[in-house]
Amino acid sequence: MTPVRVLAVASEVYPIVKTGGLADVAGALPIALKAHGVEMRTLMPGYPDVMRWFSGAEEIRRWPDYFGGPGRLLAGSHDGLDLFVLDVPHLYARPGNPYVTREGTDWPDNGVRFAALSRVAADIGHGLVPAFVPDVVHAHDWQAGLAPAYLHYDGGARPGTVMTIHNMAYQGKFAPELIGSIGLPWHSFNTSELEYFGGISFLKAGLQFADRITTVSPTYAQEIQSDEGGMGLGGLLRARADALSGILNGIDTAVWNPQTDPHIAYRFGADDLTFRAANKAVLQQQFNLDSSDEAPLLGVISRLSWQKGLDLLLEVIPTILREGMQLALLGSGDRDLQEGYQAAARANPGRIGVVIGYDEILAHLIQAGSDALLVPSRFEPCGLTQLCALRYGAVPIVSRVGGLEDTIVDIGEAGREATGFKFGPVTADALGWALHKASTTFRNKAACRRLQLSGLATDVSWRNRAGEYAALYRDLMASRRR
Ligand code: ADP
Ligand code: GLC
Repeated sequence: MTPVRVLAVASEVYPIVKTGGLADVAGALPIALKAHGVEMRTLMPGYPDVMRWFSGAEEIRRWPDYFGGPGRLLAGSHDGLDLFVLDVPHLYARPGNPYVTREGTDWPDNGVRFAALSRVAADIGHGLVPAFVPDVVHAHDWQAGLAPAYLHYDGGARPGTVMTIHNMAYQGKFAPELIGSIGLPWHSFNTSELEYFGGISFLKAGLQFADRITTVSPTYAQEIQSDEGGMGLGGLLRARADALSGILNGIDTAVWNPQTDPHIAYRFGADDLTFRAANKAVLQQQFNLDSSDEAPLLGVISRLSWQKGLDLLLEVIPTILREGMQLALLGSGDRDLQEGYQAAARANPGRIGVVIGYDEILAHLIQAGSDALLVPSRFEPCGLTQLCALRYGAVPIVSRVGGLEDTIVDIGEAGREATGFKFGPVTADALGWALHKASTTFRNKAACRRLQLSGLATDVSWRNRAGEYAALYRDLMASRRR
């Protein structure tokens, strides 16, 4: 096995900084790649939560003026992850969410903040750190999208580049004037390079110039080549179809392990699924739901955004009530959805329980105690909560899109062991019908147990999926040598 060195570039990495699944992937993939002979280091910005761990880390480089203020590049390790941290206080020393202000609007200088990250990624690609000269630079999402572009415009020898799309909805769009201030050439401003509807897009830049493009499921790789799924970049992705592939995400099976999980009330494995009932009772208490072993309990752990289809779930609350089910929802995001769910909980005490916020411990308890986990997304590049659900014996009820289509086997599918329920099109009617079907199945204990056991037997780990990334890096290196 030829050893491969990869510089990953990510704006969030679990367990240090997380707003969504990107962090989970950036935190787990490097560790899983070790078994495949890939040495990955991850470059991330030095937000306050990062500097708490890394302020004393080894200083590799210091700049008196890096994009308008002093900056340093640090190297260190945390929990088995090898990191480079770009410590530039005037860009990253801001509390809270990495992308938005306390009022919820994007930081006005996000273009410069993430150009700075990509610039240093390209420099590491060129050999800035002699002890770690990567064979491949792997950029995640728009925040890292300029890394392949800088490497392209710099000219000369360069490492191979991979761009991974975790979500087409976030494209890093900025005014064209930014070009001059981030050290890109003005001739890049045309529609076959960085120009995007009169401005520039960092995601487009990455998709244009990366040697390989991946996204996080095979079905999403198809969907984003359509005009609708591509959200403006479908044409470019069709043109680059030969470079594009889908590799499913895994989950960190050490963090998500019902046999050792410190966050759940009662630990369990495939042989003692009956302990789930005890977790269900705790979950019902925490969400102020009536204590009932019989009522099927639906769980949701999600960002509250249009993508996730949770407005449709609000519409089918009458079905949930009619079927004698309960709902425990944990999430935060759009104000309208937050208020909608809070109102539903007030109107249906004991039946609908809602916690608005981000809470890792509750997320584990929902997986361990709910009978079903709902993911009714309009689009879903991969989705991770349904993978955790498979491992915890919560039966997934999901829409037929993206990675949900690829990771769940519907109860009606012939010839394969079913693991859950899938519905489509993504409408309230189809969701309501799926809930009705699930409710009927849940009253049949043997059928329900079969679904749970085939879920528990599904491989949701990173082991094989990391192997697909390792093969991609090696293939890319071989093709560049030819
Ligand atoms: P996305 O990245 O689109 O938000 P994913 O399903 O890929 O969706 O990943 C979401 C991750 O964030 C999962 O690890 C999930 O458990 C976690 N998560 C989402 N919302 C919450 C919340 N309110 N509290 C705790 N964890 C959450
Ligand atoms: C994105 C997607 C989600 C995916 C995650 C990690 O946030 O919305 O489907 O699982 O990235 O790849």
